[in-house]
Amino acid sequence: MDNLIYFDHAATTPTDPAVVEAMQRWFTTDFGNPATLYNLGLTANQAMETSRAEIAGLLGAEPDEIYFTSGGTESDNWAIKGVADAHEKKGRHLITSTIEHHAVLDTMEYLEKKGFEVTRVRVDSGGLVDPDDVRKAIRPDTILISIMHANNEVGTIEPISAIGEIAREAGVIFHTDAVQTVGKLPVNVDDLNVDILSLSGHKFYGPKGVGATYLRKRVRVTPLMHGGGQERRRRAGTQNVPGIVGLAKALQLATDRMAEEAVREQAMRDRLWQGLQESIPDIWLNGHPTERLANSLNFRVEGIEGEAMILCLDMNLIGVSSGSACTTGSLEPSHVLLAMGIPAELAHGSLRLTLGRDNTDIDIAYFLDVFPPVVKRLRDMSPVYNK
Ligand SMILES: Cc1ncc(COP(=O)(O)O)c(C=O)c1O
Repeated sequence: MDNLIYFDHAATTPTDPAVVEAMQRWFTTDFGNPATLYNLGLTANQAMETSRAEIAGLLGAEPDEIYFTSGGTESDNWAIKGVADAHEKKGRHLITSTIEHHAVLDTMEYLEKKGFEVTRVRVDSGGLVDPDDVRKAIRPDTILISIMHANNEVGTIEPISAIGEIAREAGVIFHTDAVQTVGKLPVNVDDLNVDILSLSGHKFYGPKGVGATYLRKRVRVTPLMHGGGQERRRRAGTQNVPGIVGLAKALQLATDRMAEEAVREQAMRDRLWQGLQESIPDIWLNGHPTERLANSLNFRVEGIEGEAMILCLDMNLIGVSSGSACTTGSLEPSHVLLAMGIPAELAHGSLRLTLGRDNTDIDIAYFLDVFPPVVKRLRDMSPVYNK
């Protein structure tokens, strides 16, 4: 889809050609299993360990604190189920927020069915968790706090470092889902005071189906996958060597470009929002005005449905997401927007645009040309918009 204007980089990103290039030989000529003892395997193992050390270095961690996984969902599941299983003798209470990704929320629900108790701290209208609410939720039997670094729908950046400090003082393990921030914000595990962190390659121009868990030394978690003794017996399964090499390369490239790219994307995003506010009445920002990822814009348009806007934009070769998640055929308004106090009908009329490396000023100008007439047409047909 060469001519698509892509504004959905929080969903996934195209793999950087330099990443594909770095991965290539590990599929073909150097395809060895890193667990084997002859040269082909040792070479693969070396590439994997070099990648592990590079990723650790970029996160301020030690190489043996990095475990390769199949991505953000697995890393989140492992952190939560792994801590629950290893620490249930101490207690069966976990704390999270109302706006986590389903990889966290559904895992918490699963544990509730197994008899664990979960406290979900609320967010304010900008999507921010108050660290004090986390402090108040801690009990003697609390074993894990899991709060995301930045939200995938509205881009709000949470006060992770402060929450981590509270967790440490209370002696509670702290996990953060950093899937939306690694590669976009500086992420240093010590500065953030985290014990466990999830990341995923395809969100920062790396391959899909590969990610990593940072697990601080001496933090006990039960493995999710049992089998061969890979990943120091903590995550069984032959490692995805090409993916891991790609993950390290992608993180290196994203880190190199991070500061410059954030300024460029934020300038484009702010111009876009300014232009939309000037040309469309009755639209409002969702998410925090300042504590927000530089590439993220989520807004609600009164009187029309997100899905109608998405389809009209798709016809104009523009790819965006809405504030609804289509689950089992019924359109549920986004739990994130509802948790921020946005009424269901406005949550339904929300759009998420997440900018990336491939976007230019031309894309912004095109969107500003195409979108206002789309809104006007849909509002003219709308039974609920009569202004
Ligand atoms: C915040 C967050 N956590 C977890 C995930 C899941 O990651 P993956 O697609 O690698 O399983 C995503 C991806 O949508 C995400 O945005």
